[in-house]
Amino acid sequence: MKLLILNGPNLNLLGKREPAIYGSDSFEDYFKTLQKKHTGIELFYFQSNIEGELIDKLHEVGFLYDGVVLNAAAYTHTSVGIADAVKAIETPVIEVHISNVHAREEFRHTSFIAPNVKGIIAGFGLKSYELAIQSFL
Ligand code: DQA
Repeated sequence: MKLLILNGPNLNLLGKREPAIYGSDSFEDYFKTLQKKHTGIELFYFQSNIEGELIDKLHEVGFLYDGVVLNAAAYTHTSVGIADAVKAIETPVIEVHISNVHAREEFRHTSFIAPNVKGIIAGFGLKSYELAIQSFL
């Protein structure tokens, strides 16, 4: 099984960015833990701050991989392009958020992506990613 974790803008700063909300672990370290925990699957990771690169990645894996765990970060709330890409591909996508977006500012309550995903996991810290992976197993 091939799964991609796809992270959007500012998530390269995890560990340094607003630790009270997003925690103090870097994603690179957490990703190593995830790989060790899931030796039976091929787990890949890509992060970009650029909307078009996230769309290109969805196109690249979207007819080949078994699943995508997508944290589109701020683009969740703004991007018709990413929402359309999720709809266009065959690979099922799970939307994840580290924080509980519904307990935060109102602009975070809207997800352009949500109607096109298989499911949504939010508010469990970095564990949100692991729960999404488990949903594919
Ligand atoms: C986030 C929530 C978004 O509202 C925010 O823009 C992010 C991260 C989360 O994982 O909690 O960058 O997607």
